[in-house]
Amino acid sequence: MAEPAPVLVFDSGIGGITVAREIRRLMPGLPLVYAADDAGFPYGAWQAEALTRHCTDVVVRLAGELRPSAVVIACNTASTLVLPPLRAALDIPVVGTVPAIKPAAERTRSGLVSVLATPGTVTRDYTFDLIRRFAPEVAITLVGACQLAGLAEEALLHGHLDPAVLAAEIAPCFVEKNGRRTDVVVLACTHFPLLAPRMAQIAPWPVDWLDPAPAIARRLRDVLLASGAATGEEGAGAPARALATTGRDLSAVLELLSAETLAISGAEAASSV
Ligand code: DGL
Repeated sequence: MAEPAPVLVFDSGIGGITVAREIRRLMPGLPLVYAADDAGFPYGAWQAEALTRHCTDVVVRLAGELRPSAVVIACNTASTLVLPPLRAALDIPVVGTVPAIKPAAERTRSGLVSVLATPGTVTRDYTFDLIRRFAPEVAITLVGACQLAGLAEEALLHGHLDPAVLAAEIAPCFVEKNGRRTDVVVLACTHFPLLAPRMAQIAPWPVDWLDPAPAIARRLRDVLLASGAATGEEGAGAPARALATTGRDLSAVLELLSAETLAISGAEAASSV
């Protein structure tokens, strides 16, 4: 019998693994291909037009080769641009990952929310639209972090993490105004949940770190059930593989799909002092 078509989970690097894990957890019987466009990493630094063209080309080419049942763009920086062209080019469902501003607005008590993202995501009309539609009453601080995605890759793959750089990157998220403090930080880049435990340790006060990955997995399940590409009775142990556009070996990353936690073990201070 022919293998069922896989779901293609796409990111610029290894951050999308935070989404792929949740998909795996929810639907362990779903074959999955994780694709990292590490040749284009980091996406946060690209101009919008060039990134739209590049990403659309890469995903359309991968979809032609892999014949997936659906594509998940596990990248906020790309999703805030490429969902319309991809949906026009592909005849399968395309699920995006965009800043979780709506749930953050529902969750905040102080009315101060920060959106921690790449420098690209915080300049997108898509992000401004989400704020206008879902958080008009909330004071949103947009924080475009230049180094965090690279820091997450380095920490996960090589165990190096400089806490001083991490602290400096997240510092603008913590706002105090009229006796109120930021209480929700949206992790609007799929790399950032990899660093969330460390961020929580060095944060000036406790906040909710909002990771949209479980919601993306549920959205994918609904879409697959609706399209008939999944029945919900697939069982477990479906194959998963990973590829990188540079051809680099991603087997270590693939192992994280079923690892107990994504804790960045051994990521000790590469001392900045
Ligand atoms: N993981 C990506 C995101 O969710 C971006 C990382 C990068 O390539 O800069 O935005």
